[in-house]
Amino acid sequence: MTDRRAAYERDGFLVIEGFLDGPTCDALIERAGEIVRTFRPETVSIFTTHEQTRRSDDYFLESGGEIRCFFEEDAFGPDGALQRPVEQAINKIGHALHDCDPVFARASRDPRIAALAAELGLPRALLLQSMYIFKQPFIGGEVTSHQDHTFLWTDPPSATGFWFALEDATLENGCMWALPGGHREPPRRRFHRVPGGTAYEILDERPLPEVGMVPLSAPKGTCVVLHGLLPHRSGPNRSPRSRQAYTVHVIDEGAAYRADNWLQRPPELPLRGF
Ligand code: FE2
Repeated sequence: MTDRRAAYERDGFLVIEGFLDGPTCDALIERAGEIVRTFRPETVSIFTTHEQTRRSDDYFLESGGEIRCFFEEDAFGPDGALQRPVEQAINKIGHALHDCDPVFARASRDPRIAALAAELGLPRALLLQSMYIFKQPFIGGEVTSHQDHTFLWTDPPSATGFWFALEDATLENGCMWALPGGHREPPRRRFHRVPGGTAYEILDERPLPEVGMVPLSAPKGTCVVLHGLLPHRSGPNRSPRSRQAYTVHVIDEGAAYRADNWLQRPPELPLRGF
């Protein structure tokens, strides 16, 4: 077993600085900017993990095979009007950049990521979901503690995140926090489709432990691998600097993907490996 795999199995996460070079990060930032600049927000969808306010509209539910933009909650005034230019108001782009955009597709299927997945015990990974996260200056929303398995459920659990810092992620601009060893926690909730929308199935009433979480400061180019059961969160960004990141989630080809998971792919876009 490699040192990296041992660390991953011990902690539930792995931080690899310098995984992407600067020009690669810059190219992804540039491409995300192009996508947002051509975005026409006929449908407004706001992303938040505060469950009461999470919009479970069709725009979100049908984004599993699309490239779609989701707004920050705080981008709108009390009258509902957008208070800033669109490119400074988007929370994230999701959820099939890795299949629908040529620049992100190439980056997502970097053979080095495939080799890393295999090294960590995922030789048969399928690319399920991708997100571009802006964490905008001043209004970047927090993401409360959660397990990614809640949203990307397989039997047995296999969802694994590959998160790339495209800009420095610091305590000031809302870096990620994670609980070392927390991937041994059982799943607490399952987010799934119900008639008319989505719901959380409560599997374990106990809150996820917060004590002991450590900040994952990540210089530009860092890759952070996250086990699907690992409790993690990120704070709001009240700083003047954005904290842009790109993340790809994979599942194991041999694990069963639930038919009522929120993310469903259209039949013409079957899941593929690296
Ligand atoms: Fe997450």
